[in-house]
Amino acid sequence: MQVVHTTAELRTALAGQTGTAFVPTMGNLHAGHVSLVELARQHGQLVIASIFVNPLQFGAGEDFERYPRTLDTDCEKLAAAGCDLVFAPDVTELYPVPQTFSVQPPDSLANDLCGAFRPGHFSGVATVVLKLFNLVQPRVAVFGKKDFQQLFVIRELVRQFNLPVEIVAGETLREPSGLALSSRNGYLSEAERIQASQLQTQLAALVAAIQSGERDFEALCHTASRHLKMAGWRVDYVALRDAETLQPPVSASSRLVALGAAWLGSTRLIDNLDFVLKNPS
Ligand code: PAF
Repeated sequence: MQVVHTTAELRTALAGQTGTAFVPTMGNLHAGHVSLVELARQHGQLVIASIFVNPLQFGAGEDFERYPRTLDTDCEKLAAAGCDLVFAPDVTELYPVPQTFSVQPPDSLANDLCGAFRPGHFSGVATVVLKLFNLVQPRVAVFGKKDFQQLFVIRELVRQFNLPVEIVAGETLREPSGLALSSRNGYLSEAERIQASQLQTQLAALVAAIQSGERDFEALCHTASRHLKMAGWRVDYVALRDAETLQPPVSASSRLVALGAAWLGSTRLIDNLDFVLKNPS
């Protein structure tokens, strides 16, 4: 596996390559990322991963500085997963001049759900993903469903800018407790880690209630949120959306997603469960 750090080296390594599958990451990789690389393997002759902690998508007071940089162990994991090429630029390589042009998702998306609590986050994500797509020019790019709203933003970016890349979604991997694998789980104390699966448990209870016929979505989200708060979480949101539009469900909605974001101590966790409604109205 080759590791390159500059855009010039990347260009050389990619010369003449077509049919590439790309997995953008911020590093600090876990088994969930490895599964995305394995999925990419099924879609491309050449698998490329990027490792870049993108300052544009972190707000003031967020964990940009704290985010673990673990290039060597990340590369070991990527090599074992069958990755061919790693692009690991530093900030000045990707942003040699201040990034004054940016991709601005519509307010309805940028300021909704996680965006309401992380102003500018999805603009930062969309901007760096567009830059990475331009540099790597993949045929396929793989993103995890764990970041459901991010996946939605990227699909819209590709659709609305006619980018010649197919977006493939990888399933969320979970610990036996149900906790979704996340680089940020590493911030949790031992006690918090035991508690952390409560977010998934509450989302699963919400989904089960809907599948058994309950239709007061607002009340169900409120109940899930209340249970988390009673267990000591600081809840950003628990929401139910149409999984195709990310808008509140309408009577025609058939695939839904329950999403939540909440804090355990100083760690913000997100999770979601998408499902096909059993008895649509
Ligand atoms: O999901 C991530 O790791 C990041 O948001 C991404 C897509 C690599 C952009 O920085």
